[in-house]
Amino acid sequence: MTRVAPSLLSADFSALREELQRLAAAGADIVHLDIMDGHFVPNLTFGAPVIQALRPHSELIFDAHLMVTTPLQYIAPLAEAGVEMISFHYETEPHVDRVVQAIHAAGCRAGVVLNPATPVEVLTDVLPTLDFVLLMSVNPGFGGQKFIPYVTAKVDRLKEMIRARGLRTEIEVDGGVTEENAAVLRAVGCDILVAGSAVFNSDDMARTIRTLRG
Ligand code: DX5
Ligand code: ZN
Repeated sequence: MTRVAPSLLSADFSALREELQRLAAAGADIVHLDIMDGHFVPNLTFGAPVIQALRPHSELIFDAHLMVTTPLQYIAPLAEAGVEMISFHYETEPHVDRVVQAIHAAGCRAGVVLNPATPVEVLTDVLPTLDFVLLMSVNPGFGGQKFIPYVTAKVDRLKEMIRARGLRTEIEVDGGVTEENAAVLRAVGCDILVAGSAVFNSDDMARTIRTLRG
């Protein structure tokens, strides 16, 4: 069963508590939290203090996507803020295994994120230690971009790597996911679909989430 993780990046930042409640009422499973440091990506969002303030107001699973150059320093504050899933970019981190271990030691589920141009094969060895892999289907930094079509083939290849080894690693896809392309993504084996603009710009959020889930 595919789960839907709306991205708070497209929410009304002046009313985040209400936006979280709106997501839960519309049937979201997870909320995707895009943490940007203005270095790895040319944009800034929010961090652990804002997430901690929101935590008591939502029962959704909190999924932190770190778009930062130094992921290690964010892990403990995010875990303390009540985040359940933490992922960081392969492209930012020479010590991928160390950061995965730190996420687990903090009591969270660990994921590695790959930019569109980074092949899934770089994860061959570390894959059994990951709870999920987040495949970017746009270049990170902004909501509302177009899905990059070649990422579908990456999902397919990653799914085959996971199946062939009998792993339970989940595949999450992020960027340009819409009601139109969700069915193909589910068919190639996505377990979690992130959607920002498709959910928040929808005239019927509950319908959009249902359609994405399939
Ligand atoms: C992009 C973020 C995404 C973004 C997705 O850097 O990682 O999570 O919010 O937004 P849409 O669904 O609008 O592409
Ligand atoms: Zn994201």
